[in-house]
Amino acid sequence: MASVHPKFDPGFGVYVHWPFCLSKCPYCDFNSHVRAGGVDEARFVAAFRAELAHRAALAPGRTVSSIFFGGGTPSLMKPATVAAILEAIGGHWSVAPGAEITLEANPTSVEAGRFAGYRAAGVNRVSLGVQAMNDADLKMLGRMHTAEEAMRAVDVATSIFERASFDLIYARPDQTPAQWRKELVEAARRAPEHLSLYQLTIEHDTMFEKLVAAGRLVPPDADTGRALWDVTQEVMNNAGMPAYEVSNHARPGAESRHNLVYWRYGEYAGVGPGAHGRLIVEGRGRVAQSTEKHPEMWLTVVEADGHGLVEDDVLSASEQGDEMLLMGLRLAEGVDPARFEAISGRGLNPARVASLLEENMIAIDPDGRLRVTPEGFPVLDAVVADLAA
Ligand SMILES: C[S@@+](CC[C@H](N)C(=O)[O-])C[C@H]1O[C@@H](n2cnc3c(N)ncnc32)[C@H](O)[C@@H]1O
Ligand code: SF4
Repeated sequence: MASVHPKFDPGFGVYVHWPFCLSKCPYCDFNSHVRAGGVDEARFVAAFRAELAHRAALAPGRTVSSIFFGGGTPSLMKPATVAAILEAIGGHWSVAPGAEITLEANPTSVEAGRFAGYRAAGVNRVSLGVQAMNDADLKMLGRMHTAEEAMRAVDVATSIFERASFDLIYARPDQTPAQWRKELVEAARRAPEHLSLYQLTIEHDTMFEKLVAAGRLVPPDADTGRALWDVTQEVMNNAGMPAYEVSNHARPGAESRHNLVYWRYGEYAGVGPGAHGRLIVEGRGRVAQSTEKHPEMWLTVVEADGHGLVEDDVLSASEQGDEMLLMGLRLAEGVDPARFEAISGRGLNPARVASLLEENMIAIDPDGRLRVTPEGFPVLDAVVADLAA
């Protein structure tokens, strides 16, 4: 197995999924559910404890370098719930000193009021779903906060946590490159150290999909999409927060370590409804895991079986190679071809590498890493498909 340079060590992550939101945003297809009657958090804590014990038995002795509470809306959890889950993680594995512990939060004043509690529980980084910096677009996106409220939440977050990031969605209907430039310059000015900038995708089974089908919502055409992408790279490069991943921008050193676990094809345990994991299990190799998505069904399954896994499959060498490329080529740092060969049992196709080099879609760095160029990133899917074939 090719060794990984310490600089590119993926680490070991734990992902915790909280599947509830106050309302469902019309563009979102994440595993999130609205529960008007409230949620029995104690019952969930017990189920999270069982799942963590199960994964720790499969992957014992690891040192956790990052923990991520994602959703849904984890900022609806009681701080005591977060504390109990962190305590359980610490009981099963050693948690590295200075481990990154992130919680996704919606930027309302109610949630900001809970930030101190999360900090006391051990969270040291928040990722806020700001989505847009103007109220008209926030309304169009079905958000429950104003731009001003969101910026106040960012300020509260930076005063409480060591690290904070926020998300914006661009390529919105009717958005022009000039408008986006202005908005993004302001966002970069307000961003603590990290920004996630996602192009709006019309997901299957969402309200936005229905509106697009009915002709009542028109996403930007391909040329406008490309112009919006170019503005994004330019503004963020000028702001000192270049893309380290397709949609993620950070000051050097402020990258999300947890997401790097995925993109560097590391090991991670995923617990909670609809969570995914990749673990290297003794005697089996790398396994792909995912859990029951429906929250109450997940509770029932975990209470009966001690875990909520509905998928637990050994990945072949070839599947692992495909996954490693798919994830690693999203990163500006690219992938190590020797590690690819060690994992997949095959080399990259020299003819395809040569033609992508020729077209300036990829580059090979002096240390041998293969990465997608700024010219290649806007057509990343095609580049990956070409290399993986
Ligand atoms: C699980 S959600 C975020 C957590 C939190 N519930 C919130 O909405 O603020 C993760 C991020 O994915 C992005 N996202 C979700 N659906 C999207 C879509 N259809 N297109 C682009 N970005 C999307 C949003 O920026 C969102 O903040
Ligand atoms: S975008 Fe966030 S708040 Fe909205 S439904 Fe999705 S997970 Fe929930």
